[in-house]
Amino acid sequence: MLRGKVIVIGICGGIAAYKMAEVVSRLKKLEAEVYVIMTPAATEFITPMTLSTLSQNAVAVDMFWQTGDPHIQHIELAQRADVILIAPATANMVGKIAAGIADDLLSTTVLAATAPVMLAPSMNVHMYENPIFQENLKRLHRFGYQIVSPGAGFLACGDTGPGRLPEPEILVQELVRFLSPLQDLTGKTVLVTAGGTQEPLDPVRYLTNRSTGKMGYAIAEAAQKRGARVILVSAPTTLEPPAGVDIVPVTTAQAMYHAVMEHYPQCDAVIKAAAVADYRPRLAANQKIKKEENNLVIELERNPDILFELGLQKNHQILVGFAAETQNLTEYAGEKIKKKNLDFIVANDVTREGAGFGTDTNIVTIVYPDGRMVPLAQMSKLEVADRILNEMTALPRWKK
Ligand code: CTP
Repeated sequence: MLRGKVIVIGICGGIAAYKMAEVVSRLKKLEAEVYVIMTPAATEFITPMTLSTLSQNAVAVDMFWQTGDPHIQHIELAQRADVILIAPATANMVGKIAAGIADDLLSTTVLAATAPVMLAPSMNVHMYENPIFQENLKRLHRFGYQIVSPGAGFLACGDTGPGRLPEPEILVQELVRFLSPLQDLTGKTVLVTAGGTQEPLDPVRYLTNRSTGKMGYAIAEAAQKRGARVILVSAPTTLEPPAGVDIVPVTTAQAMYHAVMEHYPQCDAVIKAAAVADYRPRLAANQKIKKEENNLVIELERNPDILFELGLQKNHQILVGFAAETQNLTEYAGEKIKKKNLDFIVANDVTREGAGFGTDTNIVTIVYPDGRMVPLAQMSKLEVADRILNEMTALPRWKK
């Protein structure tokens, strides 16, 4: 599966370094060409001998590494690689890369790299949650570094929480996915709604909500990359539409309703990430409303529930809803699945830090009609988008 691919594995000094023997072994079984660079601290946890035996290549540790082969220098390696995976990526290494520091072989190789770099952070939960570390990680993400989110659970240090290096098979899957992107949505049409609708009050004012559209745009991007034709029905946002999607701009809930209904028959799936206003001002004034002495009472009337209508008219389509809640998350999500005839719902508690409106990450639980739940750790909205698509393509109804 990975024949002809050159993978550089950077190992830092963390207890999870032992898992990298298994990663290298699995990559070799998939026929990748693997080179390992270790920091000196990493050699305290696992020996270079183990990794050179498994990778069938010399392991590089120090800057002034000499193999006798003049072609395998770190700069050349950094340029020949199809991908560089740093795992475990310690807080120290992430901090150094984020600051542009190159004071050991691994950080120097990364700074010289033209290949994409994946980072799999692993550390104590308090280090992971430290805002300085989180800022460094965000900075690298902005520069295009791929971040593999850590698992949550019991950590070697005795604490519990996020910080665990994903199991070797997950790291290998991430590499395979990155090097040979899935095209499992080819031939399918996926409609995504995004953003918060605006309900006019007069020519200068409107009612809206805090949605920025980031989650919906991430889903549209992920589905497009996986080969789908994507129709993105978008309420106003400040985001650039992802390349290759058909964008249908709308403003109000009613306009979104008409746009979605028009395209519904040709869709294989509808993912409703938009925050649709449940109510609109009954009368939108033609002229600007002038202030008066008394209080102003605005009468609101119900907007159509788009997802409910889609549920009524559902035929072959997969329907995925979102439930943004501030309390009783799974209970409310369960009710919405039944009421709107959904295949599953993506529930998030928008009051949690790292979840909800405006953030680049999300923390969601996928809830199925039979009550089954798939809780996901905090991860980038693009990663959440891929996980949602994975759940969708695993549905028996999708496969029919
Ligand atoms: N939704 C919709 N049309 C509406 C309101 C919501 O299509 N008028 C969709 C949203 O896009 C989302 C799902 O329904 O996928 C859940 O939205 P939410 O506002 O959380 O649920 P509501 O059904 O409006 O329930 P409530 O406001 O009571 O929480």
